[in-house]
Amino acid sequence: MKQSFLLYWTSVLVLAVLSVESAPSYGCGKAVPRNFSAGQTTSMVIPSTKGQPVRHYKVHLPATFKNDKPHAVVFSFHGHNGDMAKQEDLSQFSDKGLLIGNAGIIAVYPQGKAGTDGETAWQGAPYSDPRVDDILFVKTMISTLEGMFCVDPSRIYAAGKSNGGGFVNLLACTPSIASKIAAFATVSAAFYTTTFNGNCPTNRAIPILDFHGTADKVAPYSGGRSHNGTLVAVKTFRQGWASRNGCQGKPAISHRPRASDPQELVEIQTWSKNCRAGSTVIGYKIKKGQHGWPRRTLPANCKGAKRKNDCTTTVFDATASVIIPFFNKYSL
Ligand SMILES: *[C@@H]1O[C@H](CO)[C@@H](O)[C@H](O)[C@H]1NC(C)=O
Ligand SMILES: *[C@@H]1O[C@H](CO)[C@@H](O)[C@H](O)[C@H]1NC(C)=O
Repeated sequence: MKQSFLLYWTSVLVLAVLSVESAPSYGCGKAVPRNFSAGQTTSMVIPSTKGQPVRHYKVHLPATFKNDKPHAVVFSFHGHNGDMAKQEDLSQFSDKGLLIGNAGIIAVYPQGKAGTDGETAWQGAPYSDPRVDDILFVKTMISTLEGMFCVDPSRIYAAGKSNGGGFVNLLACTPSIASKIAAFATVSAAFYTTTFNGNCPTNRAIPILDFHGTADKVAPYSGGRSHNGTLVAVKTFRQGWASRNGCQGKPAISHRPRASDPQELVEIQTWSKNCRAGSTVIGYKIKKGQHGWPRRTLPANCKGAKRKNDCTTTVFDATASVIIPFFNKYSL
C-alpha cells in the first residue's frame, strides 16, 4: 500500500517535470504580428546591441500555422557569400507539407555578416569577421521566435551548407547553444581547423546528419586547404561525432533503393551501435556529388540551367526525404 502510494507520487512528479520540459513557448496564443501570415516568408531585424551589428533573418510560417499549436523551428544557414533568400530557395525548408512532431515547421533563414573579404560568412571560418558573435545571434533569434510564436522549445534544429554547415558544427560544439538544439544537419560543410580540430566539447550525445559529395572542389571530401585555411576531412568529422556520442564499431553501410538510385551513387553510413541516449550519426557519401544541397530539381535561382555546385541535381531530396524525418526522430 505504502509502496504504491510512493509510486503514485513519484509518477506524478515525473509527469510534472516532463510536462514542464516540453511546455510550449510563451508566444503560444498571442496575436501573430500583422506582417506575418501562414505560408509566407517575412523579414526580421535585430537592432544593434552590445557592440554587435544589426542582424537580419527571414522567417517562413507553414501553410497550416496556428499560434495555439507548438511548432518546430528549423534554422537553415547559407554558405560563404550566400544570403538568406538564396538559402530559402536552395534548402527547401519552406516547401509545403514538411512535418515535425505532426505540425508544420517554422523555417528560419539567418543572414551572415560580411567577413574580412567583404563576403557574407559565419563565425569560425578564416574569412569571418572576428568581432561578430553569431552564436549570440542564434540565441537572440530563438528567444525572439519563442516570444512571438507558439514554438516547441524541445524541437529546435539547425542545418547549413558549406561555411553555414561549419557553423552548424560550431553550434553543436558549443554546449551553451547545443543544449537548445535537438539535432543537427551539415551539408557540403567546410569544417575549418581554426575552430574545430576534429574534437570538441559536448555534454550530451548529439544527433548528426552529414551530406558530402566526392566531387566537391570547394570543400573537398578528404579535407585539405581552402581559403587560406585547413579543412577537416569528412571521415574524421563523422567518426569524431560517433566517438563523442559513444557509438561503437564501424558504421553500417547501406544504399538507397535501386529504383531511385540505379547507379548506387549514394552510400549511407550509419553509426547507431550503443550510441548514448539513442543518438545516431549518419553520413551520406554522394558519388560525383558537387558542392551543393542534394536535390532532384534545380533551385529557382539557377533559372533552369544546370551548371555546377548549387546548380546541380542528384537522385534524392535531402530536405524532404532525409533531414526532416531525421529531425523528427529527436527532441530535447
Ligand atoms: C515584422 O514584424 C516584426 C514584429 O513586430 C518586426 O520585428 C519586423 O521587423 C517586421 N518586419 C518587417 C519587414 O516589417
Ligand atoms: C590568402 O591570403 C593572402 C595573403 O593574406 C591573400 O592575399 C589572399 O587573398 C588569400 N586568399 C584567399 C582565397 O582568401
